[in-house]
Amino acid sequence: MRDEFVLRMIESFSEVHTEQYFQFVKKHVKRFNSVLDIGCGPGLLLEQICERFNPGSVTGIDLRPEMLEESKIRLKSFGKPYSLIKQHLQEDTNLHGKYSVIFASRVLRSFENLDDVLKAIHSSLVDGGYLVILDWDQQPVKTYFEYFEQSSSFQRLTVGEKIRRRRNFSWYSSKDWEFMCNLFSFNFIATMRISPVHISMIFQKN
Ligand SMILES: C[S@@+](CC[C@H](N)C(=O)[O-])C[C@H]1O[C@@H](n2cnc3c(N)ncnc32)[C@H](O)[C@@H]1O
Repeated sequence: MRDEFVLRMIESFSEVHTEQYFQFVKKHVKRFNSVLDIGCGPGLLLEQICERFNPGSVTGIDLRPEMLEESKIRLKSFGKPYSLIKQHLQEDTNLHGKYSVIFASRVLRSFENLDDVLKAIHSSLVDGGYLVILDWDQQPVKTYFEYFEQSSSFQRLTVGEKIRRRRNFSWYSSKDWEFMCNLFSFNFIATMRISPVHISMIFQKN
């Protein structure tokens, strides 16, 4: 039986990785020679990248073995080199090579060592390489309430629990993402609103 977190990631994947998101990536990212997905989860993004962008090679990093097992199933039919690495990026930020694109979906916000991770991303990109972030965008409490309204697990919470839950997702705003990536020498390329509480942003290394 699948782990509950794995299931949640599978179920919610297409709510944020929409057709418009992939069109946005296609429009701005000009090379897909080697691709890294940080916090790759069950591998759905890697699978989509392989199908849509025909990369030369792909790598996924995740701390959970059950996520990597799922990713392996999805990458089995990809006819080119791939690697899946079990690693806790808050303990070790080595990204194992150079990439033309690094994706980080729904993962960066929670890193205590975000500065070290952004530095590692920067030095692991080739010149002109891209960082594609998809993450939560800090919003008022009311916006989270409205966003989660349909979710039965959210409906079961008390008002206090709902207010506290929002804190998990509201670490940074889109302005914060832009500011922090600029601090680590990324150039802002484009942003796209995914939902009232999610954004995607693309940065490029000089
Ligand atoms: C919310 S899920 C997102 C999965 C996928 N990127 C997506 O958007 O569908 C976050 C993923 O990042 C992984 N993760 C969280 N913290 C991590 C860390 N410190 N090092 C490596 N992976 C991490 C989790 O195990 C999980 O698979």
